[in-house]
This record gives sequence, C-alpha cells and structure tokens, in this order.
Amino acid sequence: MFIGIPWDDSFSLGFKPLDEQHKQIFGVTEEIDEMLRLSAPKDLVVGHFARLRQMLSEHFDYERDLAASLEDGQYAYKAHDACHQKLLIDIDSVIASLETGGSDAQIARCGGEFFECVVRHDGDMVSALVHAGRIKLSDPK
Ligand SMILES: [Fe+2]
Ligand SMILES: [Fe+2]
Repeated sequence: MFIGIPWDDSFSLGFKPLDEQHKQIFGVTEEIDEMLRLSAPKDLVVGHFARLRQMLSEHFDYERDLAASLEDGQYAYKAHDACHQKLLIDIDSVIASLETGGSDAQIARCGGEFFECVVRHDGDMVSALVHAGRIKLSDPK
C-alpha cells in the first residue's frame, strides 16, 4: 500500500486549480496502490512512480509560484517547500530501490508523508492568498 487514503472531497480547498491537480495526483497513487496489490511488473510500477514524480514536481512549481505572489510576511512558505522537496527525494529513493528489488518500508514511508506534503500544508497558503486578494475561492467552504 502506497497511500492509505483515497481522494475524498473533504480534502478540497475550494480553489479549483489546486483541487483538480490534487485529484489527478491522488488518482495516480490509487493506480500505484492497485499495481502493488496485484504485484504488477516492476517496470510498470517504476513508470508510474516516475509519472507521479513528474506530476508532483509540476504541482509544487505551481504552488511555489502562488506563494511567490505573496509579500514577505504574508505566508511562511519555507516549511511547506521543505516538505515538498523531502517527498520528491523520498520518491526518488523509492524509484531507485524498486530498480534494485524494491523496498516496502520506503514505499510505506512515502505514503505516510504523502497527504501532509501534497494537500495539508496548502490550506494555510490558500487562506493567505485569499486574504491577500490574490485568488478567489471557486467553492468556498
Ligand atoms: Fe498541493
Ligand atoms: Fe503544497
């Protein structure tokens, strides 16, 4: 099991571009979970992790640009970004370990930090963006 929780609409932040990206990313993790459950061929699993990494990298770039639109002091992005970077490094480790036999422990660790790094930190950033007038919520909670 890579990520223990499927996408749930309660994870939505009310800012459509981010919510759509999150849903797509969770979709890929569900596919990875299914592949692991079915013991799919290693190259398919590696290919999916590589795709997940690419999507996350683009998603994190998008979030970095959003955070950069805020003035100093409006949002402390540093810890958020550190979480992003750690997850990318851990996914790189999973890909490397899969190529040499696989490590369930590494995969589980990645899954453990996934929700926090991909979605949870974003709530405060979205609030700061709304407060600063940079974005409007499409679906206010
Ligand atoms: Fe995110
Ligand atoms: Fe984030």
